[in-house]
Amino acid sequence: MTVDLRTRYMGLDLANPVVAAASTLSSRIDNLKRLQDAGAAAVVFQSLFEEQIEHEEIQIHRVLEHGAESFAEATTYLPDLEEYNVGPDAYLRHLEASKRELEIPIMGSLNGVSTGGWVRYARLIQEAGADALELNIYYIAADPEETGEQVERRYLDLVRAVREAVTIPLAVKIGPFFSSIPNMAKRLVEAGADGLVLFNRFLQPDIDLDSLEPLPTLRLSTSDELRLPLRWIGILYGRIRASLAATTGCHTAEDALKLILAGADVTMMASALFRHGPEHVRTVVEGIAAWLEEREYHSVRQAKGSLAQINVPDPAAYARANYMEMLARFTSPYDWRAAPSEPRA
Ligand SMILES: Cc1cc2nc3c(=O)[nH]c(=O)nc-3n(C[C@H](O)[C@H](O)[C@H](O)COP(=O)(O)O)c2cc1C
Repeated sequence: MTVDLRTRYMGLDLANPVVAAASTLSSRIDNLKRLQDAGAAAVVFQSLFEEQIEHEEIQIHRVLEHGAESFAEATTYLPDLEEYNVGPDAYLRHLEASKRELEIPIMGSLNGVSTGGWVRYARLIQEAGADALELNIYYIAADPEETGEQVERRYLDLVRAVREAVTIPLAVKIGPFFSSIPNMAKRLVEAGADGLVLFNRFLQPDIDLDSLEPLPTLRLSTSDELRLPLRWIGILYGRIRASLAATTGCHTAEDALKLILAGADVTMMASALFRHGPEHVRTVVEGIAAWLEEREYHSVRQAKGSLAQINVPDPAAYARANYMEMLARFTSPYDWRAAPSEPRA
């Protein structure tokens, strides 16, 4: 028996559920080809950032208005050629070139937090040939005066603006920090999202005790981080009218299978690909097929969502109910159950 690995994501028919998440791996066509050869069903391009677009527009404006030399600040703002090459134009050209070279779907990615002129790049990404667009709203709400409702409106306004700009499928990538994820998910879908990508992995700053500076750090994830998207995909499956993509903590075939059983249409990987290389996709795809075959599933479709909250006998497993029981069951030599004992050697 051969297991049917096909899945549908925002109307795109994909050969299997393993997708390369947005990352700098997409900046080279040889890497994209390696991902395709290893069996990736689709790739998400690294993002084009709001700051990147606005920065370039400010520079062009200043140079046109004042000339690079006559306007002192312009020279410091003006990128050198190398930096210019990673600007929006180069992004669009790279997307076009990649579309010519690859057969698998390519999703463009736009990363920002505000509505505004830069949103027109959504259409340019579509015109460059992207099969879908992922909008990554990476917003850290740090202003005590800004209410949760205002933050949510910001998200919804941006999704509406991008939705108006494109006709290709639109996925929205969000973080987990909302008072009600299901309500926010529902409203994002009403605002025009065809898919939700759960969850953005916000990079947490560290503090350098030598330089006494806050330090932005990027550490690759591990499978331990899978549980957050796993829970929420399990809860959202069957409750909202949108495709679900899982990102953060998917490293192995087992991780991907858990996410599929919870209800993910696709599972995305970034850290695992940086750790093991693009060929790791093959191990994951083959592992998914082997597990499904061993348990006599005919297809990914059959497995998808079978362990979502709406389909399990104990829905509380996804919610709060088992919390106390888990705490009570946890044992340690130091907890209340351990008999008073001699100090350990
Ligand atoms: C080096 C690197 C670059 C990334 N670039 C982007 C990006 O441009 N846009 C984006 O939405 N996510 C980006 N991500 C986040 C990934 O798409 C992914 O959501 C995150 O790493 C969690 O998945 P993981 O646990 O598989 O790494 C990047 C991640 C890494 C490690």
